[in-house]
Amino acid sequence: MTTSVPKNTSAAASHGKPGDPCVFVIFGATGDLTKRLLMPALYNLLANKLLPDKFAIVGVSNVEMSSEDFRKQLGDEIKQFATTKVSDDLWKFFDQRMSYMSGDFKDPATYQKLRSELEKTDKAHGTPGNYLFYTAVSPSFFGEIVKQLAGARLTTEADGHWRRVIIEKPFGHDLESANALNREIGACINEHQTFRIDHYLGKETVQNILAFRFGNGFFEPLWNNTYIDHVQITVAETVGVEERGAFYEVTGALRDMVPNHILALVSLTGMEPPNSFDSETVRDEKTKLLRAIRPITPDEVPSWAVRGQYGPGTIDGKQMPAYRSEPHVDPKSGTETYVAMKLAIDNWRWSGVPFYLRTGKRMAQRLTEIAIKFKAPPALLFRQTGVKQLEQNGLVLHIQPNEGISLSFSAKVPGPVVKLAGVDMNFKYADYFGSAASTGYETLLLDCMIGDPSLFQRADTVDAGWRVVDPILEAWKAKPATDFPNYAAGSWGPAAASDLLKHGGRKWKEG
Ligand code: BG6
Repeated sequence: MTTSVPKNTSAAASHGKPGDPCVFVIFGATGDLTKRLLMPALYNLLANKLLPDKFAIVGVSNVEMSSEDFRKQLGDEIKQFATTKVSDDLWKFFDQRMSYMSGDFKDPATYQKLRSELEKTDKAHGTPGNYLFYTAVSPSFFGEIVKQLAGARLTTEADGHWRRVIIEKPFGHDLESANALNREIGACINEHQTFRIDHYLGKETVQNILAFRFGNGFFEPLWNNTYIDHVQITVAETVGVEERGAFYEVTGALRDMVPNHILALVSLTGMEPPNSFDSETVRDEKTKLLRAIRPITPDEVPSWAVRGQYGPGTIDGKQMPAYRSEPHVDPKSGTETYVAMKLAIDNWRWSGVPFYLRTGKRMAQRLTEIAIKFKAPPALLFRQTGVKQLEQNGLVLHIQPNEGISLSFSAKVPGPVVKLAGVDMNFKYADYFGSAASTGYETLLLDCMIGDPSLFQRADTVDAGWRVVDPILEAWKAKPATDFPNYAAGSWGPAAASDLLKHGGRKWKEG
């Protein structure tokens, strides 16, 4: 007898109903992503009554292991990585629905074996031929897996069932390779079957950007170059490269964070209002915004982008090593762990409003935020007072941690003399909605199960993103940095990053 899914009585679900019955196939089932994020996210979906009763998991990887050992391993790991206390009763649901097979991702025999495993699983669990494949593997296998799945006819949609593939990031390592991967995948499966994941879009605070901008009457009228001076987007991390030195050495901060996560934030902040939440309409607007970013040439790069690499330093009183001393990193590495850049958006809304972006490892604080800086008011009224300068009002969308929104403005300091001081109004998600146990992958996995691609990158969005960073990659490759390391762990990045904002006395917001 199997444990059944609790009935959906919760209104917490974004779509309100569980995903379609399906088999969830994980390539890379013994890897980090599976234990740290995918299983905890599936567990949270189950706990919120959002997994279909007719559901099964098939794990695939190159490690030899029995299904029994696989279940035991995941059962142990979930206790460590779940975002909530794991109930044995709920875990039984997975235990009764999980199997494992080993195989070489490049060998067609693996996919024949998978085919029979899926037919068996499908019959046993009543998942009507719907298969969701997740590529939690090294990027070099993305194209290969899709090709092999199609070769084994596992991606063919017929008789009312669906087949979908989630492709992890990074999607390509530059414009050319991303487009080659798009072509390779596009030759095997349709765009509606392709779910290019960017986990930033699974974050509630990121999804809230559209609700905030378009669900309120008083922000949108000010959201343009008449009132906004500039926008700053910061994604700062205190962690270093952890155990991912080998990956990071060939990736670097620009590729790792900008074409996907940071440009997703840029497009949500800058896009025009879509006519509906229909996935194509929303994605059209996002892509249009990315295409409006002014292309730069490799020659112009030094005045538009700054790179950095951390040296030793201190974070929270702890001594941190230099990037070059991290495991699997070349002691003479030229890889950037920090990037700051400026974007010009050549459309009617944003012409003349620079977007400044920065991201880095081992920064002073873990912080992801979007700061909108409004133009300062004219000073006429205050000429005869002691107020020398009127400050720019600021609106900050705190993406993480301390999720919320704050507005800073000037107020008169009580007393007989006219004096102004900056004050803040703060909204915190936790105060209103409590804090939900989430990995950020729940919505994304559920969306795949119901076939809603709104939060996934379309081929043309990926293309538009790489077009923005490609000239920088090219220029940096042609001229390796000579000043690395150029910022201390625990600082806000290299000094040169402030030169990007020099114009008009602008400066990076700190903390
Ligand atoms: C990943 C990057 O995509 O995002 C990592 O590869 C980075 O280098 C991570 O640390 C940041 O994600 P989050 O959700 O912790 O901000």
